[in-house]
Amino acid sequence: MTTDTILNPFAKLDPRYLARLREVFDRASYTEKTIEDALPMGLRDNATKEGAAPGVMRAIPQDTPLGLLVRTFLLNVPVPQEALAALLGEELVAGLLAGEFLMERPGGVACPVVIHPLRGFYIVHDGLGARLTPISKHLVMGIGTSSLAPANAAPRRHYRRALDLGCGGGFQAFHLAQHCDEVVALDINVRALNLGRAAAVLNRAGNIEFRHSNFFSAVEGEKFDLVVSNPPFVISPESEFHYRDGGLGADRVTETVIRGVGNYLEEGGLAVIICEWASLKDGQPHDRLKQWVADSGCDVWVYTSEQDDLVSYAMSWLRSYQANLSAEEFHRTYDRWIDYYEGLNMSGVQTGLVVMRKRTGDNWVYIDQAAAVIRGRWGEALLQLIDIHTMLHTSTADEILDQPYQLSSAARMRHIYQQAGNRWASTEAEIFLVEPLPYSGRVDQYTAGLLARCDGTVPLRKLVADMGEIVGVSFPEIVEAAMPIIEGLMQRGYLIPVSLLPPDPEVPEA
Ligand SMILES: C[S@@+](CC[C@H](N)C(=O)[O-])C[C@H]1O[C@@H](n2cnc3c(N)ncnc32)[C@H](O)[C@@H]1O
Repeated sequence: MTTDTILNPFAKLDPRYLARLREVFDRASYTEKTIEDALPMGLRDNATKEGAAPGVMRAIPQDTPLGLLVRTFLLNVPVPQEALAALLGEELVAGLLAGEFLMERPGGVACPVVIHPLRGFYIVHDGLGARLTPISKHLVMGIGTSSLAPANAAPRRHYRRALDLGCGGGFQAFHLAQHCDEVVALDINVRALNLGRAAAVLNRAGNIEFRHSNFFSAVEGEKFDLVVSNPPFVISPESEFHYRDGGLGADRVTETVIRGVGNYLEEGGLAVIICEWASLKDGQPHDRLKQWVADSGCDVWVYTSEQDDLVSYAMSWLRSYQANLSAEEFHRTYDRWIDYYEGLNMSGVQTGLVVMRKRTGDNWVYIDQAAAVIRGRWGEALLQLIDIHTMLHTSTADEILDQPYQLSSAARMRHIYQQAGNRWASTEAEIFLVEPLPYSGRVDQYTAGLLARCDGTVPLRKLVADMGEIVGVSFPEIVEAAMPIIEGLMQRGYLIPVSLLPPDPEVPEA
């Protein structure tokens, strides 16, 4: 175990003090909800962002238990030691000081790391100020959009073994620990592993093993049912931060994870990865990703937005890091980033959620390009989508036609009418899904009519045949015309084969 205080800052801390600190958090209701409720609208969800501290402190007075805990553990602001001892007890404060989980600072004592209550967990990470200290390269990042995307998408079913690759402070691992028997959390950054271990005590999560690893090196030969990863995917000429740059150059961090992950999945195992990949000037946007997944042994479902142009991409990353750069340095850095992209022959960057499920056989790849952000947790819908794609890929046309289908409960339709003689005639319909994958499209009135009859009882063959009669074309002709549209609706989760609907919840006997 290293004694380097950057890598192992709490080597002297007796974990029992963390367990006792958690009891104080419970008693004083140091939770996400209590904090949010105390904050004005503009600060909700933003309490740990740069510049938020004065607003948070104004809203939550120091002379309350919550105010004291927020200052000490969320904002890292020094508080009077006596005040903290009155809340935590003398012995606990002394223990935390001896373990360097509290430090003496001008104006009192302060915690050197952030303890962020989020989603029922306590996430221990570094404050943004650590970027300007010797911790910099080893900084353990807080929770951002890239952390939430895989956490929201991962199915929360019971699994035996799960892996969090690039665990940082353990945000994904703590989710996994709630529904998996064993969790292995890997990171190259020893400081991250140690902050994660401290958080595991606060979260009373005894089933996570934090291991030092370069990508998959610490799990060679092991298999998992679920892998979740938010790797350091940013494409940049830097290798300044473990959590951002990965240090391999170009988009090789994403390549390493995507090419590798299939080897660590059980048959049927699922990987949920948020990542970025480069588009090259002389290729199509997803060429590289398609090459990487080609031999993965997995079915692959990708949700990606429009590609970012290189200027916006570089600007957005640099803006978050320019605080310590002079105007001249900023200019030079910007030029260096753009020169780097030009040297790589890049035309843009794709960000996406890549979901891979191991399946022996002929695999499929589906790339869904949509600008919308998916909100809320949607792991079950994701599994259903993957099942639908697999069914479409492995079934004959007859097998597809012979099944009854039902609309998703989130499916909606809006009819468009046009004046025809002295009445309104429905010409086409806009169909849309309200959740989880926002989707909208148009269908003609005949398809709209067919969809209305998809109540889960009549096989598609009959509905399509009836539609052919109305339109006045033969069955083979109507199948040829209608099936691509119907299959497209299945691929988006608008139309679901009854065989893939979740079983009705059991009605308890009276
Ligand atoms: C973007 S952060 C994600 C942190 C956390 N999992 C989350 O979702 O908030 C990426 C993490 O990958 C780690 N990392 C970087 N290079 C790595 C490597 N070669 N092997 C394993 N982990 C690595 C970083 O230290 C960092 O903790």
